[in-house]
Amino acid sequence: MHPTGKTPNEESPLNGNKALSLDEVKTELHKRHHPSLTSLDIEAHAKTVHRIRTLKEKHDVVMLGHNYMEPLVFGLSTKEEQGDSLGLSMYAANTEASYLIFNGVPFMAETAKILSPDKTVLVADKTAGCSLADNFGAEDVKKLKDLYPGAPVMIYVNSYADAKAESDICCTSANAAHIAKTMPGDTIIFVPDIFFAQNLEEELKGEKNVVYPGKDNTARGAVCEVHERFTLSDLVAIRESFEIPKGHERRKLYAHWECRPDVLKESDFYGSTSQIMKDIAARVENDQLERAFVASECELTSNLSQEFPQVQFWTACSVRCSHMAKVRLDKIANILEAIDSGDDLTEYEVTLDADVIDKARLPIERMLEASV
Ligand code: 13P
Ligand code: SF4
Repeated sequence: MHPTGKTPNEESPLNGNKALSLDEVKTELHKRHHPSLTSLDIEAHAKTVHRIRTLKEKHDVVMLGHNYMEPLVFGLSTKEEQGDSLGLSMYAANTEASYLIFNGVPFMAETAKILSPDKTVLVADKTAGCSLADNFGAEDVKKLKDLYPGAPVMIYVNSYADAKAESDICCTSANAAHIAKTMPGDTIIFVPDIFFAQNLEEELKGEKNVVYPGKDNTARGAVCEVHERFTLSDLVAIRESFEIPKGHERRKLYAHWECRPDVLKESDFYGSTSQIMKDIAARVENDQLERAFVASECELTSNLSQEFPQVQFWTACSVRCSHMAKVRLDKIANILEAIDSGDDLTEYEVTLDADVIDKARLPIERMLEASV
């Protein structure tokens, strides 16, 4: 039980695999403390949530849910099936289920496919992109390798399999600094995220030389179109208007690694989406958090508000990842209906050439080995 006496999300049967009737689904949705989940929304969506849960259980489907999923979609995954890119990759590597629905963007589902090539990996919308993965490819890795011969290439997981296949090791926002330190030599090439690279460069000052696209070269890199929207002046204004002064014991400003370097420096804590969630959980546990702002995708804050009703969260609703937003309840229901009726799954299935899988598996497996 939370200190407020409210029941936290994690105790809800909705987050488990137990069969529930439509009325029970509605009751559980009503118990959620989500400000934008009104009775109207519940009435509109409960039937779809119920149908998805029923078919998920019937076909023994694993449904991975990234932390950026809107609350109703996020809640379709069990606690174990929810997470950041690293946690979900680890889960995908170890699951026995033959169907894996990945509620996230396709590059994430590709990682699952590479780690579990015999499984059927499905996504709600194959057209969902990512400004990092979409603007960087294998040719860009090759160009950097030519420019810095001998330096190992560490590729951020937000990239497609063909670019990973040209790289030495993969990383996520949960382990980048740690992985970089395990690499041989004093220089690493980090791709494709330019802000992330600059943040890593600062973090590893004196330990590793980080080279990246655009740093004394003309190689192509990319930034996250969502996190680049936060500027230092936004954060200063947020601190002022929401009364979150620097150094306050119980009020905190969080940022994701993909933010601009000056934004990261201004924050009180930075990390991956799950690391941010864990820091909030630990502070709540010790009654050390009353107010927070998270400079990241806004549905992360929606999920946090639901899970930690005792914390006052402010959010920038317009900072939504349009790619993640393509993953909707109705589309997920369509995948499950297709599985149920034995229909063709081509529209949803993530496929990769066997040789790309073989080449891209190595950097991902190296990352997983170095993460434990
Ligand atoms: P995490 O790995 O921290 O969940 O981040 C993924 C992502 O796409 C951030 O924008
Ligand atoms: Fe890509 Fe940014 Fe969306 Fe994450 S939030 S999926 S990095 S565009």
